[in-house]
Amino acid sequence: MSAQLHDSWWIRDVEIPTRVVLAPMAGVSVQAFRRQGRRHGAGLVCSEMVSCAGIEHRNERTLGYLRVSSDEHPLAIQIFGSEPRAMAEAARMVEAAGADLVDINFGCPVRKVTKTGAGAHLLEHPDLACRIAEAVANAVSVPLSVKMRRGVEDGSRACLELGPRLVDAGAATLTLHPRSAKQMYTGYADHTLTAELVELVDVPVIASGDITSRAKAEAVLDATGASAVMVGRGAQGNPWALREIAFGETAQPSREEVAAELIHFIRETVRELGERRGSSFLKKFYAWYLGHGRFPKPFKNELVQLDSTEEVVTRLLAAAPGAADLLAELEAEVPESEVLLEGMPISVYGGG
Ligand SMILES: Cc1cc2nc3c(=O)[nH]c(=O)nc-3n(C[C@H](O)[C@H](O)[C@H](O)COP(=O)(O)O)c2cc1C
Repeated sequence: MSAQLHDSWWIRDVEIPTRVVLAPMAGVSVQAFRRQGRRHGAGLVCSEMVSCAGIEHRNERTLGYLRVSSDEHPLAIQIFGSEPRAMAEAARMVEAAGADLVDINFGCPVRKVTKTGAGAHLLEHPDLACRIAEAVANAVSVPLSVKMRRGVEDGSRACLELGPRLVDAGAATLTLHPRSAKQMYTGYADHTLTAELVELVDVPVIASGDITSRAKAEAVLDATGASAVMVGRGAQGNPWALREIAFGETAQPSREEVAAELIHFIRETVRELGERRGSSFLKKFYAWYLGHGRFPKPFKNELVQLDSTEEVVTRLLAAAPGAADLLAELEAEVPESEVLLEGMPISVYGGG
């Protein structure tokens, strides 16, 4: 019998309250998403991948990704790059920003990233990958985690050679998404590789890929011996899935709950990104939240057409008036926003 999903566990000296980890997702894992994930039972949340070159050049938008709030700990901030010195420097910034873990991305299959020598490209360049991991591990005092795919080509087992070497280089935990980079998101995640990786290393392994229900999470923990599961697409517009997976609570929110969570998410995101960037970023979330048979399709389509997020909020409150009280409760819990990186331009925090 494997560990219980609601149990806490440790990555070196960092306690993780449950065995459910919210996946890093580019274009999704904004602070509002991570905070919501923590509230709904994710024991650990991750930023989307942040360019180490962007950090090095103090790119304003990139630095905005390093904004950390007090209610999202424990938090991993993920960085990507191909040069050990620059990655070490970025890791120092990530630690200074308040992350509990620095995570390295060795899995991104997108050409824009791999052609720079980063992401999944490094699965085929293990010596360089290990030098990056070592440089990062030596640069920070927080634990290093590394997230990999199985390899670049279909059927590759590169992760099984690289994983133990990354641990020798200083990784305190490994996450495996056992699809190849070529597969992108097709086929399925072959967690027999996760089980093999668990056998090979003496650090906790996190299993990522196709975890969408408590039954699937339990089956993967049992079959692999992994310490935790990571949930990505299953949590998009559906934080209740995290609650179901972590605690076995049924995942059918009322319309009022859905509307309240979505409005709260909209407001937090606009605070983070500003109205202009936030309103286009949010459109995909409307379909994610309001789907699952929760609201009729024409209503979803109507929201996407609206220009301002306040109009969206007005429509949602009209469709589910009872959401106002729930929303007030959610807003009362939000901590004062904190500025943790000294010397950073204030506009980073104001969005834009
Ligand atoms: C939209 C999207 C963006 C993603 N961005 C990242 C990323 O920035 N870093 C990363 O390591 N993985 C990224 N992933 C991969 C996920 O973290 C996860 O490993 C993968 O989606 C499989 O898990 P799932 O089946 O639960 O979605 C992304 C996935 C999606 C769908």
